[in-house]
Amino acid sequence: MSLPKVLCFHLILMLSAFTGAANGYYYSRWTKCIHSSRDLSDMVYIDNYIFNKDVHIQFNSTVGEYVGYTAHGVYNAELYNKDPNQLQQERAQVETYCKYNAKNRQSAIADKTVAPKVKLSSVKQAGGRHPAVLMCSAYRFYPHGIQVTWMKDDKPVKSDVTSTEEMPNGDWYYQIHSHLEYTPKSGEKISCMVDHAGLTKPIIVDWDPSLPESERNKIAIGASGLVLGIIITAAGLIYYKKKSSGRILVPT
Ligand SMILES: *[C@@H]1O[C@H](CO)[C@@H](O)[C@H](O)[C@H]1NC(C)=O
Repeated sequence: MSLPKVLCFHLILMLSAFTGAANGYYYSRWTKCIHSSRDLSDMVYIDNYIFNKDVHIQFNSTVGEYVGYTAHGVYNAELYNKDPNQLQQERAQVETYCKYNAKNRQSAIADKTVAPKVKLSSVKQAGGRHPAVLMCSAYRFYPHGIQVTWMKDDKPVKSDVTSTEEMPNGDWYYQIHSHLEYTPKSGEKISCMVDHAGLTKPIIVDWDPSLPESERNKIAIGASGLVLGIIITAAGLIYYKKKSSGRILVPT
């Protein structure tokens, strides 16, 4: 299992629009804590002073002091750098703010695992020269790093398999969908095996080749229609027979 390589936390400290119009002026200050190692030793703290979309002053903990990017920014960065209190406070942020929060997040989120749910479904049924397509979906798992394997009679299949990337849902969970193209053979067992850090042993789901529910419904609806048709036709015929035989009885 691989942990998210970079946990990057943005915090908008201040955001203010100077006019009520949609195209206002935006002054914002964004801080970021960036790290990729588990022991947080490579933590970098970035403090951006932004006007509209331009960073005019930045504090980067690796650099250790403020850097200005516009005339106004350079002027103020120099002022900030001359203030030992401000500089000391800013330099301490990488420990007191970044590492402190990252430790909490690591134990509350990053170190947790959530096992995937697995679903096997038919995408396309075999017909004519077309092979059948099955889809194996694993979803709501965390973190990313999952193995989806197709098996025919318990032997892994490599060919005719296409898979999506592990897609982030945006809520910390991930999902993945793998497709298998195959020509159904009677007696052959098709399974999807999923392994993930949140599981003690892999989940194996066997494909049930009996007709899926939607197909059964279609057949049921079709059959009901046919029976109804036959009843109406029969009723019509009987009615017609009765009428015509009744007519014969009445002499004209
Ligand atoms: C912070 O500064 C270091 C050293 O100059 C640099 O390598 C790194 O890219 C900077 N980080 C950001 C996010 O600008």
